[in-house]
Amino acid sequence: MIRLFTIVGARPQFIKAAAISRAVRLHFSDSISETLIHTGQHYDENMSDVFFREMEIPAPGFHLGVGSGTHGAMTGKMTEAIERILLEQQPNALLVYGDTNSTLAGALAAAKLHIPVVHVEAGLRSFRKTMPEEVNRRLTDHISTFLFSPTGVGVDNLKAEGIMHHDERPLSADNPLVINCGDVMYDNALYFSEKPCDLPVDLMKLDCANTPFVLCTVHRDFNTDDPVRLSAILQALHEVSTRHGMHIILPVHPRTRARMETWIRQHSDHPYIHITDPVSYLQMLFLLKHTRLVMTDSGGLQKEAYFFQKPCVIFRHETEWVEILKTGHAVCTDTDVLRINESADHFLRSATAGFPSLYGNGHASEVILDNIVKYLEA
Ligand code: UD1
Repeated sequence: MIRLFTIVGARPQFIKAAAISRAVRLHFSDSISETLIHTGQHYDENMSDVFFREMEIPAPGFHLGVGSGTHGAMTGKMTEAIERILLEQQPNALLVYGDTNSTLAGALAAAKLHIPVVHVEAGLRSFRKTMPEEVNRRLTDHISTFLFSPTGVGVDNLKAEGIMHHDERPLSADNPLVINCGDVMYDNALYFSEKPCDLPVDLMKLDCANTPFVLCTVHRDFNTDDPVRLSAILQALHEVSTRHGMHIILPVHPRTRARMETWIRQHSDHPYIHITDPVSYLQMLFLLKHTRLVMTDSGGLQKEAYFFQKPCVIFRHETEWVEILKTGHAVCTDTDVLRINESADHFLRSATAGFPSLYGNGHASEVILDNIVKYLEA
């Protein structure tokens, strides 16, 4: 039996973990036992607990309760605590997702103990090292033994950095496995999209299934922590809503809420702008199915918009998911008010069609686990 330990800590990781944990339970329970370590980077009911309940993610075997802090403090505390668990438990591999501080902490602790690191969502790049996520994902890729990329572009990015698929020597961080396996988030979108859910009360009133609306989120530090950028986004939202008579649904991340209190107060009674707490995964899927347009700086949400064949305005200068730009269904506007308005107008006025399949066939989790079994059982 392969003992696989998995790090989760932030919202997008709970979502990805649901796909792999489900595949372990359904198809690999004879060969893999999985234990989750929850770092506690996200800790609120609606940033963490609701995902475990709703997506049937197994309860973590370990909870580090690290909470928030500066990047160094957070990463340091997590690395130390994960190292202690790995030394004691000696798993056969440590799986990490994406690009958060929890990802890097897990990868660092495991690599130095010579425990193979499995990186799910390897190879993505924004080519902007001022982003904490870019630092986390680059460093993690360079010390991983299994690199599972959701796209061909990811595999090419790794190759450009000298991380190539292994030769006949045994697998290691110096001779890693590199595969385009598709996207575990697509596995989940297919699996969960038909499940029923209740919306928060204020959104129920809006009758989202029959009322045109735009779905919007903002949480990146370079947008929330820069008042000029944040107010440009909020101004553009207001203008899009007014010009199109369009409802805007804005589930607000705790980081963002703290930075836009005044704006929230000013818009609390606005008939078209609906500010809510973060929504659950099933609620988000419901909103994605019914929205006319997504406007976001989230990596996960821009891709989920694509899964549901919805256009997307991205409040960033660049994206790691470059393939959606090429299809013409998404555009990076940064926080340029004019460009946000023009792009929203374009998408709201024109019908969108033709979303070629870009993220696999809904079985990325099985490909990942198959390869783990193949190499670790050998
Ligand atoms: C993190 C990830 C980012 C991911 C995002 C998803 C890093 C560097 N960034 O960003 O890649 O897209 O999660 O949401 O790891 N907070 C709460 N309650 C919570 C969680 C956070 O109040 O449950 C507040 C804290 O004040 C914290 C702030 O939100 O300081 C930001 O949280 P943090 O984990 O630092 O980064 P995110 O912006 O969530």
